Amino acid sequence: MVGAGHTRFGALAEGPRALLRQAVDAAVTSVDRGFDRSSIGEGFLGTLGFSGWQLGNSSAILAEEARIPRVPVSRVENACASAGFALRAAIRAIESGAQDVVLVAGLEKMTDAPSTRRRYWLGVSGDTEWERLAGLTFAGVYGLMASVYLAQHHVLPEALAEVAAKNHAHGALNPNAQFQKPVTREQVLASPFVADPLRLLDCCPVTDGAAALLLAGEEKAHAFTDTPVYVAGDGAGSDSLALQDRGSLTSLAATRRAADEAFRRSALDRSAIDFLEVHDCFTIAELLALEDLGYAPPGGAAALELSGATRLGGSRPVNPDGGLKAKGHPIGATGASQAYEAFVQLRGSAGARQVRGAERALTHNVGGSGASATVTVFTV
Ligand code: COA
Repeated sequence: MVGAGHTRFGALAEGPRALLRQAVDAAVTSVDRGFDRSSIGEGFLGTLGFSGWQLGNSSAILAEEARIPRVPVSRVENACASAGFALRAAIRAIESGAQDVVLVAGLEKMTDAPSTRRRYWLGVSGDTEWERLAGLTFAGVYGLMASVYLAQHHVLPEALAEVAAKNHAHGALNPNAQFQKPVTREQVLASPFVADPLRLLDCCPVTDGAAALLLAGEEKAHAFTDTPVYVAGDGAGSDSLALQDRGSLTSLAATRRAADEAFRRSALDRSAIDFLEVHDCFTIAELLALEDLGYAPPGGAAALELSGATRLGGSRPVNPDGGLKAKGHPIGATGASQAYEAFVQLRGSAGARQVRGAERALTHNVGGSGASATVTVFTV
């Protein structure tokens, strides 16, 4: 990565075109030695669908707003993992030698849609017959996972509340975050239920935002900067769409597969990673991620979180940018936003939320309730 840009996340006045333009312009400006857009050979846009406003052919909008109208751009749609998979496509384009320089952008404009339409629209990323048409929302899907997890591992909801409190504390240090206010565990546990045992403060919010990345092949990267951030290895995995068809409700096989591939490709050990950006769309998802990525045994992520190890200043910080929980979760933008965090952290420019001495980072992006996942390992 030679450049990365990020808009503010939240309920924003800007429309999708303006958000894409802002993120791409910021990525271009971030390139140390200047960047000529004519060097971009291909683009990939991660998006679920602009609140249903531009469901088809939205890749053309990235080409227009990035001012690369003759460059091939493809939309990649894997629900909340859209940008993670767009990044994967960009890595493959460069690795294969097909392209030298590739643009990845992620975007979602969610707050335009009224809540009933949004519920339907988000639900299209889950199983239609057995989940959406039966009335199960995403909070409901993760609520089922959480209730099984708590019962199976004899874990109290305090562990979920700690994930929310930690990520809100981190978000308070991130000027791009939707929520920049700390909350206590007690406040989380007193917030209203959304899908028992998940409460309001266990949920990611509804968010507008975009992020963009500029990738170049290793040879070419040094023409743009002396301090590129390298992709050491990446992986992806899939699983059944419907929860009922999966082997477990407390482990995402797609994450496990993606992590195994990413660590195999990078030839790095899990212990070498300085901080993690994991997909915490609901607090339970962060616990499952830590276990599926290999950082805690089944049921062990709860104690890890409660020990403080995952906080900034702890032995392995998780979601220093506030995560989906506090930074916000504009569906198709999240994977690119996570890579943006790796870019600024590994270059030592993350400001108040800087992970001291960070040299290796892992990002983890999940589609829907776990039908797909990507894991990417970055180094300096
Ligand atoms: N975390 C913390 N605070 C939140 C919040 C969240 N996730 N969502 C809303 N709030 C706050 C708002 O800022 C507002 O605070 P205020 O009264 O001080 O201004 C208040 O709660 C009410 O906000 P509102 O927008 O009316 O909430 P809502 O009830 O319409 O929506 C959720 C709350 C949890 C249902 C909604 O955020 C949601 O659907 N989240 C999940 C999105 C999702 O499923 N994404 C895909 C994941 S796979």
